[in-house]
Amino acid sequence: MSRTPVLAFCGSLRAESLNLALLELAESLAPELHFVGSDLVRHLPLFNTELDADTPASVRQFRDVARAARAVVIASPEYVHTPSGVTMNSLEWLMGTGALEGKPVLLMSASPGQTGGIRGLVGLFPPLQLLGGVLLDPVSISRAASRIDSSGGVLDPVVYQRVEFAVDELRAAMVPA
Ligand SMILES: Cc1cc2nc3c(=O)[nH]c(=O)nc-3n(C[C@H](O)[C@H](O)[C@H](O)COP(=O)(O)O)c2cc1C
Repeated sequence: MSRTPVLAFCGSLRAESLNLALLELAESLAPELHFVGSDLVRHLPLFNTELDADTPASVRQFRDVARAARAVVIASPEYVHTPSGVTMNSLEWLMGTGALEGKPVLLMSASPGQTGGIRGLVGLFPPLQLLGGVLLDPVSISRAASRIDSSGGVLDPVVYQRVEFAVDELRAAMVPA
């Protein structure tokens, strides 16, 4: 059986990213979903409407994946109390495409700090709503450096449970094809 496509990307480009580990945990809990996107966002140019005169292949591919997706999962760090530039740049390239219209969006963040990156996620609410996404209850993981192993291991069962619950919510929110 073919897996359901999901636009899923990490807002950090670090190989040791805690947010990438969170995204990979979600992916491992949903084998019927096909997460596509992290490799694409790192190749997007900085947003510039002039580039759409001859849309770069990386942008076309990213938009095609977003259009084909049935849901969205973004794991994104908070920098200086705002969403990561990688995430914002990716969303800017989706403006005006209608690609996310009516699709459930699971937002996650992980931070070594006490607030888990929640301010960065809140900063993503307006653009995602403007893009037509349907926001689900977000997951933010505080003190993540001691609760998530950046090589993929989850050290705290509460983290596992919260992501498991969020993935169940995502499944329930997905409109049948
Ligand atoms: C310049 C800079 C600013 C940061 N600002 C915040 C912040 O506002 N809130 C927060 O929770 N963490 C902040 N952090 C810590 C990041 O959350 C931390 O580096 C995190 O591991 C980055 O995500 P990643 O592991 O997925 O790459 C900041 C880190 C840097 C380098």
